[in-house]
Amino acid sequence: MGEEKRLNLLRQEIVEQSDRFNKSRSFDSLSYGSRDLSILAYGNFYFSRTWMAIMFAVAETLTRCQWTIPKSGPIRILDLGSGSGASGLACLSLIRSIGIQNPLELHAWDYSSKSLHYLKDLHRACYNLWPNSKVFPKRGDLRFQMQERKKYRYDLLLLGYSLNEIREEHKVSESVEWLKQASRVLKRSSCLIITEPAESKICRNLHEIMDHLVKDEKNFFHFAPYLNGLPCPMTRNDSKYFSHEVRRYPTIEIVEKINRPLHLEIREVKFGFSILGLEKPELKSPPLHFFRIISPVKKRKGTISFLGLAADGVEYYYEFQRRDMSEEAKNNLLFLERGDVLRIGANLEVKEGNRIRLSEKDLNPIFLPRFVKSKNQ
Ligand SMILES: C[S@@+](CC[C@H](N)C(=O)[O-])C[C@H]1O[C@@H](n2cnc3c(N)ncnc32)[C@H](O)[C@@H]1O
Repeated sequence: MGEEKRLNLLRQEIVEQSDRFNKSRSFDSLSYGSRDLSILAYGNFYFSRTWMAIMFAVAETLTRCQWTIPKSGPIRILDLGSGSGASGLACLSLIRSIGIQNPLELHAWDYSSKSLHYLKDLHRACYNLWPNSKVFPKRGDLRFQMQERKKYRYDLLLLGYSLNEIREEHKVSESVEWLKQASRVLKRSSCLIITEPAESKICRNLHEIMDHLVKDEKNFFHFAPYLNGLPCPMTRNDSKYFSHEVRRYPTIEIVEKINRPLHLEIREVKFGFSILGLEKPELKSPPLHFFRIISPVKKRKGTISFLGLAADGVEYYYEFQRRDMSEEAKNNLLFLERGDVLRIGANLEVKEGNRIRLSEKDLNPIFLPRFVKSKNQ
């Protein structure tokens, strides 16, 4: 088969998958995990996106949240709805790339045995990205009660773009019960990380579930997206921006080729996410000085501005006068992205309409992840 024919087959399949994810929303073990073409289409197109989304979320867990590396022994990761491995393998690769040396175990569960085979092959083929690691694929339908496995306790529990499929057509209260059951396998110093596609209904559902889970289980705490253990305000109000990250990342050649006639968004990854932990988050004080950017960064005539949610749980409008601002300072501000966490190192005056006027020098980075292409990529 020539290249163009192959690409067209993948394109057709991607359009079908896109319709399934966004319109028909019907999922079962035969829907897209039972044919090689479906898995290859997902792998060549969506895989890099879900990989990047969980990379950002795991990076935040490892650097900003209270997650501790086990003193000895393996780091065990449980990936529910692992598919061909984008989220679980990204997690292995990130842990290795930041120099953590513990042996790694990825326990990958999915109802598509074909996807799990791809995961195993990928793990073997790119072993240099995750040396000293093992994968343990397990096939099963996760809609039904999760079996509590006494044998293992996990350091990280991942659900990469899979919760919305596994819990499709279930009530919030049922999903809360399901997650409670699933998270019984977590160690005390561990975290539960969930990424979801940036679709408003899915993101709102995610935050509603997480809010109920934290209220029901006194041992669970919100670590992210918001600060100081606060829940996502999206469940309380009808804000224009629901809490999803929008982050730039360099595209991959094959994704660009496939996308040429499709014109889908491939330069940014948009996703909703939540990180829960089992240890009370340390209070960021004074709370008004810590915030997460929750809107696009806008350049207007005289100002650069964005909305942020501070660690006191309130939304503020942050504004920077461009007059007399150096080019470097402007570029630094325009380099910020939705999802960045910053600290303000200056006295603050909150004006009417929750406006805060700042200088670029007042901002200190807390979590500003950026993806840099290495020379051989
Ligand atoms: C959108 S894919 C995400 C795959 C992978 N986690 C990633 O980050 O790219 C959703 C995955 O959830 C799996 N899945 C959906 N419903 C499931 C169920 N009831 N039981 C087990 N796996 C399920 C699908 O087979 C698929 O691999």
